[in-house]
Amino acid sequence: MDTMRWTDDGVLELLDQTRLPSEVVYIKCATHGEVAAAIKRLAVRGAPAIGAAAAFGLVLAGRRLKCLPEEEFIAGLRAAAAELAATRPTAVNLRWALERMTRRLETSGSRDPDALCAVLLAEARSLYGEDVAGNRKMGVYGQELIPAAARILTHCNAGALATAGYGTALGVIRAAREAGKGISVYAGETRPLLQGARLTAWEMLQENIPVTLITDNMAGYLMARGGVDLVLVGADRIAANGDVANKIGTYVLAVLAREHNLPFYVAAPVSTIDLSLASGQEIPIEEREPEEVTHLAGLPLAPGGVSVWNPAFDITPHRLVTAIITDWGIVRPPYVETLQELFETKKT
Ligand code: MRU
Repeated sequence: MDTMRWTDDGVLELLDQTRLPSEVVYIKCATHGEVAAAIKRLAVRGAPAIGAAAAFGLVLAGRRLKCLPEEEFIAGLRAAAAELAATRPTAVNLRWALERMTRRLETSGSRDPDALCAVLLAEARSLYGEDVAGNRKMGVYGQELIPAAARILTHCNAGALATAGYGTALGVIRAAREAGKGISVYAGETRPLLQGARLTAWEMLQENIPVTLITDNMAGYLMARGGVDLVLVGADRIAANGDVANKIGTYVLAVLAREHNLPFYVAAPVSTIDLSLASGQEIPIEEREPEEVTHLAGLPLAPGGVSVWNPAFDITPHRLVTAIITDWGIVRPPYVETLQELFETKKT
């Protein structure tokens, strides 16, 4: 199932993930504002997927602006990129994708709006295609870390739905399965928005990968009973020292994994690594509406007027991360050195 598709008549269709697993519905976005709204309300979500959606959003902006004089066209595109980038602050892939798109505008050598729209579309398409290819590479590298018959605990959804396809953490799980390993998955439900229950469980069932759903507060007891062999999650941003921002609740799992001597792996494309930030303390953490905590599927769970704190992500300190699986290879501590080396080796 495609997370998103670009149609011949120039519309971006997004699989509305807020309706899964009950309904499979695609929403049509004809403007960058509609894409921004879809990202904000998590109709499309997951770090690489919002980057790709924003890239196509910029194409939509270009198509609307192309009747304007060149200067205004470029200024309008920059404003649209800023609007898309402001939708969600934590996942760096969003900013990375938009910066890549605007850089491509500058290097194209053309000032003609029609030509630039074609350049933008080609760039969004390659960004999308590269994401799937990168996830497959991550799968090849990462599955080497997965023992046969491993019982893997994952959190949130770092699957095909969170990317252009195949997934990061779930991509590694898929690759282990394709390599013939009889693995099984525990999916933490991931309050408040239940990406684990609604999306990861759904993806795994679709492919007949054995999956057991638990609520988030069951993970400790499950580990204490010896029910988990490793934890494997995705990431929204990784700082230069290896600190990892991922869905709220990830940090708890990393602490629990350390207590129970279990490996804690993070799978993420290099576009999630932000070497400009020295540590996770500098990563902006999105805080969302209280209703996501006080309500479930529109029904109130808490007394009206209660005060609520709803951070969407947390930071797992690098010392709790056993290894980071990227599309360029596996990185191990000391991350402050090995992450730098990863980029330097690629440059040469
Ligand atoms: O709020 P969400 O659903 O966008 O959060 C998603 C996550 O935290 C994922 O684990 C992360 O983006 C990695 S997706 C490959």
